[in-house]
Amino acid sequence: MVTYYTLLCLHILGATIWVGGHLVLATTILPRALKARKASIITDFEQGYERLGMPALAVQILTGLWLAHRLLGSAANWLGDSPHAHMVHLKLLFLAATVGLAIHAKTRVIPRLRDDNIPVLGAHIVGVTILGVLFTFAGASLRLGGYPLFGS
Ligand code: HEM
Repeated sequence: MVTYYTLLCLHILGATIWVGGHLVLATTILPRALKARKASIITDFEQGYERLGMPALAVQILTGLWLAHRLLGSAANWLGDSPHAHMVHLKLLFLAATVGLAIHAKTRVIPRLRDDNIPVLGAHIVGVTILGVLFTFAGASLRLGGYPLFGS
């Protein structure tokens, strides 16, 4: 039987891979590529990371929806006005923004990536990384049942 503990562990493991990988990409790989003006530094990293990063995001979505269902229950509660519902809404908003940026990068930016337009992809990488960190803050707020993300 799949337990709450197992799903929470998978969710936290997925978070370390997704957010950790993007922090490495944004703070070490991207600056190196910008300095050397070499787009291949990013594409080489992404080719390796993608194999772990994309399954990790899929695990985040599946386990996240399950955890939210466990926390909120019926559809009425999902649309409700509780602190838990608000944090889940925030996470779904972050998810939509992450998926939007990822699709735009994959279909529009990466096919046209050259050594002289790395900053366009860089903006996407920084955006997805900030969203990943916000996902983590919202997750911890959910666990605490309130709005520590907003200081209360
Ligand atoms: C990259 C995406 C995501 C990251 C980095 C992330 C990160 C986290 C973290 C760090 C926690 C705290 C775990 C703990 O209590 O120790 C958490 C909890 C949670 N997350 Fe996510 N999350 C992501 C996506 C999602 C999505 C898409 C949903 C679906 C709405 C979701 C729903 C939840 C719920 C409901 C909890 C609370 C679990 C509980 O305490 O029972 N997460 N998340």
